[in-house]
Amino acid sequence: MPNRGLPVVVIGSGAAGLFTALQAAPVLPVLVLTRAGAAEANTAWAQGGIAAALGHGDSPRSHLEDTVAAGAGLVDEAAARVLCDEGPARIRELAALGTPFDLSGGTFALGREAAHSANRIVHAGGDRTGARLEQALLAAARAAGVTIQDMSEVTGIIVEHGRARGVRIHTVAGAERAIEARAVVIATGGAGQLYSHTTNPAVARGEGLALAFDAGAELADLEFYQFHPTALRFPGVRPFLISEAVRGEGAVLRNAAGERFMPRYHPLADLAPRDIVARSIVSEMQRDGADHVVLDCTEVAARMDIVARFPSIASFCGELGIDIRTTPIPVAPAAHYFMGGVRTDTWGRTTVAGLYAAGEAACTGVHGANRLASNSLLETVVFGGRTAAHIASGAHQPAESDAHAIAVDCARFAPPSHAALQDLMWHAAGMERDAGRMRDGLATLRSWRTTEEGSPSARVAALMLEAALAREESRGAHFRSDFPELDDAHWHRRQVFRRAD
Ligand code: SIN
Repeated sequence: MPNRGLPVVVIGSGAAGLFTALQAAPVLPVLVLTRAGAAEANTAWAQGGIAAALGHGDSPRSHLEDTVAAGAGLVDEAAARVLCDEGPARIRELAALGTPFDLSGGTFALGREAAHSANRIVHAGGDRTGARLEQALLAAARAAGVTIQDMSEVTGIIVEHGRARGVRIHTVAGAERAIEARAVVIATGGAGQLYSHTTNPAVARGEGLALAFDAGAELADLEFYQFHPTALRFPGVRPFLISEAVRGEGAVLRNAAGERFMPRYHPLADLAPRDIVARSIVSEMQRDGADHVVLDCTEVAARMDIVARFPSIASFCGELGIDIRTTPIPVAPAAHYFMGGVRTDTWGRTTVAGLYAAGEAACTGVHGANRLASNSLLETVVFGGRTAAHIASGAHQPAESDAHAIAVDCARFAPPSHAALQDLMWHAAGMERDAGRMRDGLATLRSWRTTEEGSPSARVAALMLEAALAREESRGAHFRSDFPELDDAHWHRRQVFRRAD
């Protein structure tokens, strides 16, 4: 019999963590641990919205087809079907618990993003979807009795007899302690901070993946990192996301000569899949010797109140003297979303009993090699909800191990600085990779001293480089200039890693 007094410990306070907590709270005590402030999550920075088949004439099947097409042959279709089928009900649930989604004519106002065949992006506060969602979930979780403990960094998962039994934490006051748990959920979000240019906040360092790996769980799809095509590029300013929804409303990319270049690269032009837009931008920048292209919203502004539709973009740019109604926005690609993560089944189970993962830190396989826009917030609630349901059921079986998982050793590298790691990853495992740069990157990483703690981010980076070096083809977000073709004969498969011992 489980000890009913032990809490479910959720690591991370973004949408995945909070939704999991909220769903489990009616039946179990829940403790959410977060290393910074409770609202300092990747979720709060999301702009475009959440994808779900809610529009007239749209269907989960069409959403599934778009998701599978974007994933370049590696989407786990069973998991993606769960995502697309359960999505609409979860959006209604979010609305019911207080997320103030934008409405039009009494129903959800639906925007468009790249590679979607229908308008299916639900948004809130125009481009403040993530912030509004985070606020609503935090309020609902607190009202449901979830305990949220901030400034608490988890330094390890306690595993006994093959089962996760709790976590070790380090508080900002310097205290170390262990917390026993009935189940542990890794909902630590992404890893954009492994790169020197990213749309992610400071907390997105990929550390949850290292926690899971150290605990013996499997990691999958580590070679697939998505770069967002349009992050603001302005001297001395962080790469603020310029949502794809702006292009969805009709904004167009132009090069240094003012030419609208995307029609030369893809029939869907500015709304081509993200990896194609990002690489096209890089090729224009390289040809022109520029560090950015521009996003021209002037025609959109002539048709609609663009400031009301994208208030945070308008205000961020406005503070830099860029009036988006009249002045094109300088943009360049930046690291945005990690398709890879802790391998789970569709109930959030990892291969370690009692250890779960949800949201961007997890890898259910729904994104394959390239995530469809706005499927990320959706996965947080669909799989967060299922994770909570599985924990509440009291079942303890872990997910099945991958028969082909590769056992790897990963030393505890300590980079000279986090910036050195970011620089290494940007050059070695960025949008365009080749064996030479990746081998050099790995060699540098391995030359760094190792310590008892090491840097969890550096461990994840080393695994990402190993995965990307092994995959000798180009697929989705993984583009190898030395292997530019897709190679289904050898690589129509996922790579899964686990700890050697
Ligand atoms: C965006 O608003 O462009 C980001 C949406 C996403 O990454 O899904």
